[in-house]
This record gives sequence, C-alpha cells and structure tokens, in this order.
Amino acid sequence: MTTAAPDGLGRAAPPRPNADVAWDDFDTAGYVLDNYATLHDLDRRIIADLSPYYRSLLPGSLSSSLDIGTGPNIYPLMLAAAASRRLESLERSASNVAYLRRARREGADPCWTPFWQLCRQLNPALPADLDEVLRGLTTHQGDALAGPPGQYDLVSMFFVAESVTGGRDEFEQLSLRFVAAAAPGGHLVAAYMAGMPKYELGGKTLPSFPLDRHTLEAVMGPVTRQLRIWELPPDPTLPYQHDGVLLLTARARHQPHRALG
Ligand SMILES: C[S@@+](CC[C@H](N)C(=O)[O-])C[C@H]1O[C@@H](n2cnc3c(N)ncnc32)[C@H](O)[C@@H]1O
Repeated sequence: MTTAAPDGLGRAAPPRPNADVAWDDFDTAGYVLDNYATLHDLDRRIIADLSPYYRSLLPGSLSSSLDIGTGPNIYPLMLAAAASRRLESLERSASNVAYLRRARREGADPCWTPFWQLCRQLNPALPADLDEVLRGLTTHQGDALAGPPGQYDLVSMFFVAESVTGGRDEFEQLSLRFVAAAAPGGHLVAAYMAGMPKYELGGKTLPSFPLDRHTLEAVMGPVTRQLRIWELPPDPTLPYQHDGVLLLTARARHQPHRALG
C-alpha cells in the first residue's frame, strides 16, 4: 500500500507529512458544508453503532474525556457528554479552534440539531441542552504528534490519524499518541476512512493514508485490550474516494507512551 506518486523521474515521491499542510488555513466552512450540513447516512450509522458503547458508561462516571483533531465536528463531544464530567478537545488548526470556541460562546450551528436529536434518542442520559454541553468544552490548540501523555478516562479520534498524513510512520505515531493520551485502562473510540488516498478541500489536496483493517489491527493490537474493529460500507454521497469506514473501541494498555520514545 502506498500513497506515493511518481516524481517525474520514475521514482515514487515520499508520502506527504502532516507538517506539509498549513492547518491553520483549514477551510472550516467548506468542510462543514461537505460533511455536516446535513446528517449523512454514514454519520447516522456511526452514531448508532457507537452509542451503545457510550451508553454502557454510567452517566458522570468519567472525570474527563479528550477528542483529538475535533475540527468542526462536535458529534464525538455529544456522544461523550453523558458519561464525561469534563469535555476537552485538542485541535491543531486555528480556524477549527475558532469554530469550536465560537460554538462554546454562541451555541452550535443549526446544522448540528439533527445530530444532537439522534444522539439523545440513542442515549437518553444525555443532557437536554447542547449549548449547555458546549459551554463546558475546553479547546486546546496543539499538535497531537507532540502531545505529552495524558490521563483522560476516554479519548476519541474521528477521521484524524489516517486523514492528516500520507505516511504510515506518522499514522502509527498518531495512533500511539491517541492511546497515550488515555489513562491506563482508559476508553478509546475512533473512526477512520478506509482506503482514502487523498481528499480535496477548499481547492487544496490534503494528505491521507489509505488505511485497511489489517493495518489498523497491527498498529492498535499491541497497545490496547478489548480491541474491537468493525467496518461500515462506503457512502456514495460523500465527496471522497473511500472503501468505507472503520470503527474502533478499545481500552488503553498500561504505558503505551514508552513506545513513543
Ligand atoms: C479530516 S479532519 C477530521 C475532523 C473531525 N474530527 C471530523 O470527524 O470530521 C482532520 C482534523 O485534524 C486536525 N489536525 C491535523 N493535524 C493535526 C495534528 N498534528 N494535531 C491535532 N490535530 C490535527 C485538522 O486540523 C482537522 O481538524
């Protein structure tokens, strides 16, 4: 598997690293329009598939949770809002951080209403008011590749490790950082685009690592327990070439950050 393209001299170009992208200029409005202006069947299915995991956690039983690379997608925060007493987000892009902080100040865009209704329908322990949930959100601007190990009871990461780099090495580093952000035994929840070689946003081509289930299992197996990975079929209404979505739930093993050096 490779994302490399010929460089004109017959050699494969190296995969594009995360640092190759001006993340601060991320086209937040275009991304919301492409993905979240309406509730796609794929997100409906993701929420329906992951809600039982969140529902199995007692309301208020987790002291804090972290979503990595949140972008403007607030439904991972919605899913965690019943179990977690404190919601935090780690996001690299200034434009996405501004979106999240605005949502905290001014309330969520109306496009999120159907997502919230679905999340509440599937988890009645969620509070009644989404804006109240968002007022409790702390957003950190930072690089998930550089983050120190955390002690979060739950860490989520939706469409990040495979969607922000073209290289397997960085995919693995991001995966290990994801696990290391959790306390030993902490809950891990993630979603990945499968088989996506790149994606276009705001006239720019962004790097992507075309992930498959076997690679995900090989990377996450050694650093987790109770690992569960399953696949959803592709959604032809999305503007991305992809083979479907991989969903993951697991618990963090002890000290995965040792592997980070
Ligand atoms: C494909 S978007 C996914 C956004 C969102 N989680 C979702 O489900 O739609 C990837 C996100 O990762 C962020 N990102 C890219 N590199 C990052 C890094 N090194 N650390 C943290 N976030 C990063 C981007 O700014 C963007 O918000």
